[in-house]
Amino acid sequence: MKEQLEKIYSNAAADISKAASISDLDQIRAKYLSRKGEFNEIKKNLKNLSDEDKRVIGTLANEITVKLETSLKEKHEEFYKIELNKKLQQERIDITLPGKFIPRGKIHPITSTTNEIVSIFQSLGFSVVESAQSPEVETEYFNFDMLNIPKDHPARDVQDTFYTKLASNVVLRSQTSGAQIHVMEEQKPPIRVISPGRVYRNENINARKNNFFHQIEGLYVDKNITFGDLKGVLNEFIRLYFGSSRPTRFRSSFFPFTEPSAEVDVQCIMCQGKGCRTCSGTGWLEILGAGMVDPNVLKGVGIDPEVYSGFAFGMGIERLAMLKYAIDDIRLFFNDDLRFLKQF
Ligand code: PHE
Repeated sequence: MKEQLEKIYSNAAADISKAASISDLDQIRAKYLSRKGEFNEIKKNLKNLSDEDKRVIGTLANEITVKLETSLKEKHEEFYKIELNKKLQQERIDITLPGKFIPRGKIHPITSTTNEIVSIFQSLGFSVVESAQSPEVETEYFNFDMLNIPKDHPARDVQDTFYTKLASNVVLRSQTSGAQIHVMEEQKPPIRVISPGRVYRNENINARKNNFFHQIEGLYVDKNITFGDLKGVLNEFIRLYFGSSRPTRFRSSFFPFTEPSAEVDVQCIMCQGKGCRTCSGTGWLEILGAGMVDPNVLKGVGIDPEVYSGFAFGMGIERLAMLKYAIDDIRLFFNDDLRFLKQF
């Protein structure tokens, strides 16, 4: 048995010296030292020996096991170091290489213009309505009916308004004015809100018109609100947005949901009022529609027009951005040309 043990030991020692990797060592350990390994097979037979032999062979077996464990461990450490170094070499990061260039995003000019206009009105005491009160997919009820727009009004025509297949009365809103109705149906005066958002119209697309664009709706309803308040708020807005130097004018106009109504022009920024292609030779550019809320609209939402009055306005955000940054084509906002967008 002693010879057997020594034979196994020398085989194992030879295997260890030939081992070339950690996985080789694992195999060797399994072959000799595991529960089913060659040493255990021998140890099982110890019980058949005399006490004296048991002691001698047992001791020898233990010594051999310890020696093998030790050299396995040494080899293991050696291989571990080699393999680790190999891995570190392979995964080495060259920190002297220049990094990848990640271009920085920018706020879209329509978004930043909207934010700027919103914060001006916030500074004048207006708050922004919740998005639930300003849906882009809207019913005729909010987009037209409650705004005193008659059933046969040309704006309802499929030429202008996009009708959906959801239902015959569901449209993509053609104006943000429906938000006025949402707010007044849910809230009683005093009301002082603005509502920015996207609107859709079936237009032929050109430098001045796109089939969707953005508006900001405003509504102020309280006791004793007059046209003077309307002018005061809008003039203050224009002063804050364009700076005091830009001339403006109020022209009388018509909207079904306001009476009286006005359109507001600012002096053309391209030609400084001399008249050019952008302003069709007039020297003025329209930026918003406004007026005193029509008593019919107030009645419709259950607000007594004998007690309350108010004004409303709606302005085109693209138009305001184009004027401020001297942009002469509305399509530039939407065709994703980074050379254009990067300038803002
Ligand atoms: N909704 C009108 C438009 O789109 C603008 C407007 C809003 C006019 C509020 C008066 C009052 O042209």
